[in-house]
Amino acid sequence: MSRSLQTLKLDVYFDFICPWCLIGKRQLDQALSLLRVERPELRVEPRWHGVQLLPYLPLQGEDFHDFYLRRLGSEPAVRLRQAQVQQAAATVGVHLDFDKIPRMPNTADVHRLWQRACQLGTPKQQETLLESLFASHFLQGGDLGDGNLLLDLAERAGFALGALVSCLHGDGSPFSGIAEGPASQGVPSFVMGGGLTLSGAQPVEKLLASLRLAMAAEESRAREKARLEVPASRVPAPGQRALIEGEGKSLVLFNIDGEFHAIDDSCPHQGASLCGGKLEGETIQCRAHGLRFNLRTGYLQGATQLKVGRYPVEREGDRLFIVLTPEESLSCMP
Ligand code: FES
Repeated sequence: MSRSLQTLKLDVYFDFICPWCLIGKRQLDQALSLLRVERPELRVEPRWHGVQLLPYLPLQGEDFHDFYLRRLGSEPAVRLRQAQVQQAAATVGVHLDFDKIPRMPNTADVHRLWQRACQLGTPKQQETLLESLFASHFLQGGDLGDGNLLLDLAERAGFALGALVSCLHGDGSPFSGIAEGPASQGVPSFVMGGGLTLSGAQPVEKLLASLRLAMAAEESRAREKARLEVPASRVPAPGQRALIEGEGKSLVLFNIDGEFHAIDDSCPHQGASLCGGKLEGETIQCRAHGLRFNLRTGYLQGATQLKVGRYPVEREGDRLFIVLTPEESLSCMP
């Protein structure tokens, strides 16, 4: 049986002042909770990468309402946009009151602080800080351009301030924390596993489906990687066998009339080497106590209680590979 995936990489690109990023976080939290029920052994710890959406804002930021009025052109357009966001936020339990957000801040320093916090903090500290920064901007009327507020929130999240103070430049110089590639997808963007990317806040079901897809792709990639190439000089002739070692395994490769079979070089009875066993047709007999195993099935002859680990053998042109994912082995013999 193949070993299931233990960790899945998940990178999220966001800005603190983007309501869709807060909504996207709530949706992601829900998707990850559901995934934990399905796959309790899987560890997913999202890494949140800051993207400064508005680097041109002045150091003191801008009045929140004025910012949207300038951007959208009219009061009705602002109301319409905010109503859409409020509706989406309410579906994930976030109740936004835009009238209580005083400023659209310059987020350069909060991104610098967050970047440092991610280098220094535990996942729990990071989660606490991320939530408190979102809450400060969207729910508590905080100004994320205020360095004192940032340090206060960081301290409450358990960070030692000495390590964070120096990342607050206090001059509005733009934050340039990440490579262009992911940032160009907009925010929020979710990059799962080896590269499956979703942009924009997404329904929980879609996030969950994408996480499953990313896991399946990672598992398939891992299986693909876990192959051992048999050097041409070690490929056994018909009726012969060869000991193949690599990736921490000792395997025996048999050539039975041109058909290859790979098994563990360890008898499931008491661990004797099977490489030196007696080969009769499709059967290998262990030299230690004489048990015989069918190479095609791996089972003890005439029984299904004991089985030697078997590995698929794949041919690609002239090349031969042993897939290092054994079939499930059973051992009930004392
Ligand atoms: S160790 Fe192989 S038969 Fe006992």
